[in-house]
Amino acid sequence: MKRLLLLFIITSVFNCKNKHASAPSKITKRGLIAKQAMVVSAREEASKIGVEILKKGGNAFDAMMATEMALAVCYPYAGNLGGGGFLVYRMADGSKGALDYREKAPLAATKNMYLDKKGNVIKNLSTVGSMAVGVPGTIAGVFKAQERYGKLEVKTILEPVIALAKNGYTITKRQQKRIASYDADFIAVNKKEILYSNKLKAGDTIKNVALANTLQRIAEHGKAEFYTGETATKLVDYLQSKGSIITLEDLAKYEAKWRDPVTFQYDNLTITSMSPPSSGGICLNQIMTMIEPFDLKDYGHNALKTIQVLVEAEKRAYADRGYYLGDPDFVSIPTQTLTSNAYLKNRMASFSFKQPTPVDAISHGKIEGYESDETTHYSIVDQFGNAIAVTTTLNGGYGSKLYADDLGFFLNNEMDDFSSKPGEPNYYGLIGAEANSIVPEKRMLSSMTPTIIEKNGEFYMSVGTPGGSTIITSVLQTILNVHEFQLSMQDAVDAPRFHNQWLPDEIRMEPNGFDKEIIAQLRDLGYKINESRSPVIGKVDGILMLEDGTLEGGADRRGDDTAVGF
Ligand code: GLY
Repeated sequence: MKRLLLLFIITSVFNCKNKHASAPSKITKRGLIAKQAMVVSAREEASKIGVEILKKGGNAFDAMMATEMALAVCYPYAGNLGGGGFLVYRMADGSKGALDYREKAPLAATKNMYLDKKGNVIKNLSTVGSMAVGVPGTIAGVFKAQERYGKLEVKTILEPVIALAKNGYTITKRQQKRIASYDADFIAVNKKEILYSNKLKAGDTIKNVALANTLQRIAEHGKAEFYTGETATKLVDYLQSKGSIITLEDLAKYEAKWRDPVTFQYDNLTITSMSPPSSGGICLNQIMTMIEPFDLKDYGHNALKTIQVLVEAEKRAYADRGYYLGDPDFVSIPTQTLTSNAYLKNRMASFSFKQPTPVDAISHGKIEGYESDETTHYSIVDQFGNAIAVTTTLNGGYGSKLYADDLGFFLNNEMDDFSSKPGEPNYYGLIGAEANSIVPEKRMLSSMTPTIIEKNGEFYMSVGTPGGSTIITSVLQTILNVHEFQLSMQDAVDAPRFHNQWLPDEIRMEPNGFDKEIIAQLRDLGYKINESRSPVIGKVDGILMLEDGTLEGGADRRGDDTAVGF
């Protein structure tokens, strides 16, 4: 009888969504408004170059190549040639797709390569230096996208990027601070001072001639330059001199892959996001399906009940993430079940507003018959109506810290996104399982969540963020800020954010962003609050289509992010 009653209550909650009147949150700030096209990225220089390419008649895919390479020049913290990423797109005709250019484990990688003889994880081996480096995918990715959908010559696209590297760009205050804070690591890993050192001050112009030369060769010889040409030889020689197991064969075998994105409904929104090997789309789908029956609008933006519902849904999704998700080319993922209403309704059955569900009572859901914070995101809408969302990374800030000075770029430390030892947390505190264990040529699980949202069948929003494990929850809150709480795109990306990832058992909240009383109430209910780990949860860049058809950019206040449009 009790069970029947419980079932009735849960079913009622899921079926009776009462979206009745609650005052929309006030818009305090609108972002840049543009009539036709826009690029929002982590640096003004990169957004400007993306727009320059659009103005030359290029489309979103040409602008992607330009913006991504420009970020590699002026935002080496995460922009890269030595990393990887994911693209989600929506063409003007409504067709959608996704591209995976995630790094891969080298051919010589082994499951226990980061463990000592006793089976313990060797500190720093998967995060710093040559053994942390996965086979880079970025150049393969930007070429694959541009070749299929772009309109301009690669040389035309890369011309302003090469000029930026040659002529230099201005160091910002934030950049000076970041470089200074990593200076000791750069010296420790590279055994010498590199181009990026604490001698650089805000306002200085920095030129990267080595990178300009690499890009020039890529402009002339295409993708092959990076994977089988002079750059490949130089890169492998350099990596091997530092003890890396990456070979020329690894580079020659690398391929970016078209993937079917994850698409689902939330109210009248159609949400399209990245599929595995990123966990972003599936987790976002799970969380949004779990929270959909609750009347968030009525509870209010960052209100107690809103935080509780989101946190409890996040906990359950992240528990599943750790157990079930990995590279779909190597493991079978029960996507249909994980994202089904029945499964997710059952996952939320233990939810109560009275107290947190204990983390050890959650674990991963049972399925019968189951066979760095330091990433960067940019959004582009072009004048032809195509939209893209791209997230790209070296993993940690400046990746492995290994800097190939002859080539002008940093190498990733993406190998740490594998589970070196199932059950043991990685850099982001994420717990992984067998599905994400190391296998040669496998792609490591990601949290990157480039996402495109349609409303009533039309393009509505392009959004994404860096933030490691907090990426998914930052994208989630940005979508809800616009859709449920009627914030402008700029307010939506600027709003304070919180995060829960099942383990560690805590809610991370941006310091000074939340009502003290709500924090006290959460503590009284039994939630552990962490306001100290990081002042920044994500750095979201998005584009919203307003009702009059113009575009609003949201460039996160937390960084040097800038929207440029026309
Ligand atoms: N390296 C961060 C991520 O892929 O999620």
